[in-house]
Amino acid sequence: MDWSLISETAETILEKDPAARSMLEVYLCYPGFHAITIYRFAHVLYGQEQYTLARCLSQFARMVTGVEIHPGATIGRRFVIDHGMGVVIGETTTIGDDCFLYQGVTLGAGAEAREGEATRGKKRHPTLCNDVIVGSGAEIQGDIKVGNNVRVASGSIVLKDVPDNSIVVGVPGRIIYKDGKRVDNKNPDPEAEAIKRLKERIDTLEANLAKVMSAAHVDKVAPNQGSSEEITGEDSDESDPVDVFLQGAGI
Ligand SMILES: CC(C)(COP(=O)(O)OP(=O)(O)OC[C@H]1O[C@@H](n2cnc3c(N)ncnc32)[C@H](O)[C@@H]1OP(=O)(O)O)[C@@H](O)C(=O)NCCC(=O)NCCS
Repeated sequence: MDWSLISETAETILEKDPAARSMLEVYLCYPGFHAITIYRFAHVLYGQEQYTLARCLSQFARMVTGVEIHPGATIGRRFVIDHGMGVVIGETTTIGDDCFLYQGVTLGAGAEAREGEATRGKKRHPTLCNDVIVGSGAEIQGDIKVGNNVRVASGSIVLKDVPDNSIVVGVPGRIIYKDGKRVDNKNPDPEAEAIKRLKERIDTLEANLAKVMSAAHVDKVAPNQGSSEEITGEDSDESDPVDVFLQGAGI
């Protein structure tokens, strides 16, 4: 057992987390630190083929910290899990040095894991290279490679390889920065984008309809033929919920 692996993680937490006041606080109050420490012991047992004992230790860590790290996972130096609760790291995951995960992150198997026995012993989980940050609630699934110095935004779902020096956002994950340069300006929320485009088409149709009615000297429209405002008589000052949604999605 390399004890420096444990002290290095504690030192990294103290260095990176402004909320951490002392080493004693890190040792006593950081469930991510407890989970990683227990994993280091479980991983040694796993290497000695004490599989069940290793799994029991890992499940004990899960019970007390809410973090599940399979003892078969390979994890590098100065690894930090902030807050911890809800993190899952699968059996064949490989994590390099200086990686940082927030709460709720899953490093999981892809759909092929459903094949059970056929995939036992095969690499099914992701590889994170060095200096990777994964935001809260993000999922990285399958045997994919996430390169050096990659940031995965909170809530993203990553299913494909990610090159070095990138920032990935959204569902499914897309690279928006590469080597410090913006490479994708699309809306990170595809549902909001679809609603926005539909709304633009409805606005165009309504404008065209108004022109046709004005040319035909039609003052009043029959129900279901005019704008929703004309039909329902809604107060025009009232906020359009679609606009409110799209503004919220873009913040
Ligand atoms: C992803 C992350 C690592 C990138 O950090 P960074 O390199 O400093 O870059 P920024 O934070 O400026 O984000 C880069 C871009 O990604 C966007 N972005 C960040 N998080 C995003 C998300 N979850 N969904 C969509 N876009 C996101 C930002 O708006 C920004 O876009 P812009 O350049 O058009 O303004 C950072 O946003 C992060 O750490 N996120 C996780 C935070 C977290 O989980 N906190 C929980 C604390 S309890």
